[in-house]
Amino acid sequence: KGCKLVGCGSAVPSLKVSNDDLANLVDTSDEWISSRTGIRNRHVLAGNETMTALAVTAAQKALQMAEVDPDDVDLVLMCTSTPEDLFGSAPQVQKALGCKNNPLAYDITAACSGFLLGLVSAACYIRGGGFSNVLVIGADALTRYVNWTDRGTCILFGDAAGAVLVQVLLLLYILESSWSRWYVKGLGGSLDSNDMWVIITQLPANRVEIGYGPMASFELRCRTACNSEEDGLFGFDMHSDGDGQKNLNAPLCENEVDHALGSNGSVLGFPPGPSSFSCIEMKGNEVFRFAVRCVPQAIESALEKAGLTGSDIDWLLLHQANQRILDAVATRLEVPPERVISNLANYGNTSAASIPLALDEAVRGGKVKPGDTIATAGFGAGLTWGSAIVRW
Ligand code: ACO
Repeated sequence: KGCKLVGCGSAVPSLKVSNDDLANLVDTSDEWISSRTGIRNRHVLAGNETMTALAVTAAQKALQMAEVDPDDVDLVLMCTSTPEDLFGSAPQVQKALGCKNNPLAYDITAACSGFLLGLVSAACYIRGGGFSNVLVIGADALTRYVNWTDRGTCILFGDAAGAVLVQVLLLLYILESSWSRWYVKGLGGSLDSNDMWVIITQLPANRVEIGYGPMASFELRCRTACNSEEDGLFGFDMHSDGDGQKNLNAPLCENEVDHALGSNGSVLGFPPGPSSFSCIEMKGNEVFRFAVRCVPQAIESALEKAGLTGSDIDWLLLHQANQRILDAVATRLEVPPERVISNLANYGNTSAASIPLALDEAVRGGKVKPGDTIATAGFGAGLTWGSAIVRW
């Protein structure tokens, strides 16, 4: 079964913070930050702006581009490590979008790899059957967990949201009085459900299925129809390594919960006080080394699974963490600089939002065109990393 990326959208907070602004907070400079990271500005949530609202805006733009009604969404995957409710932000996004059919909505927590995991999960839900329109949102507000006195981390992060609509792939040939060919973008395409049609559905491996009847009765058959040559996600490779957590983490604050038994058997520190998470702690150079070693391997593996090589890539779209990481991975894969998508300078590292944010800009800016092959890769806390080869 196939799937296709049919819409994208993004949103960033209104407050823009420059490198010079940060040089007023910590001992750093625009020269150091831009030369070591490629970052010049980032957007930071302020006032009453929320990450959930950014996610809703990004999702609405993706639905508009795809021309899909919120009522036709049957799954919302909210990839975030900074939910605005401990139990997850996805249901609030689903509610704000006005999806009337109560589609499943839940969070995926995998830091900067979150969006990639969401994308692959969406494809699996579609290929597993029953799901037609899956909204994958990457949204994070890591600036809420930044130590603004630590120059090694506070210069890196920005807040944002990006979204992609992944849709079941249908390729229908409709026999009318003449052999005209129609392409229907997903269930509930442009055909009237009361119309009578004779259709020929092309299946993978050049098999063809012929049927007729009211369009409504075709829906089940349509769900299983796809053409693998048009598939929007055709190879992925993903990993995690809990041992690397020591190099990048934001753990539960210590001393909040103390369940040790006292000498008389009483429980010390009970009841516990309210908990919170510490600020991000990172050994930047360790994470840097991990990224430039593991990301090319994951992309090569995903390409191999897809039966492709580096020369088949139109665009390299990595999690936007550091321009030097993008350059190193591109060099290793022999992808020329003009094929590397980068918007780090304007937004910094926006965690799970960075890939869909950069994709949205590249699509709306006319850079990425329908049919282009994109090698995408996420990496970050966990540690987690992975690659997916997608077609726009
Ligand atoms: N301004 C000026 N000097 C600085 C700054 C700063 N903002 N930050 C560090 N320095 C100094 C250090 O103190 C050190 O000085 P010293 O030599 O006197 O000790 C020197 O610069 C070099 O420090 P490094 O940490 O080795 O610098 P590096 O070149 O590695 O750059 C950076 C640091 C930008 C953090 C880089 O390591 C990096 O980008 N790492 C990867 C981050 C990443 O990809 N994270 C993954 C995703 S995040 C997530 O998943 C949540």
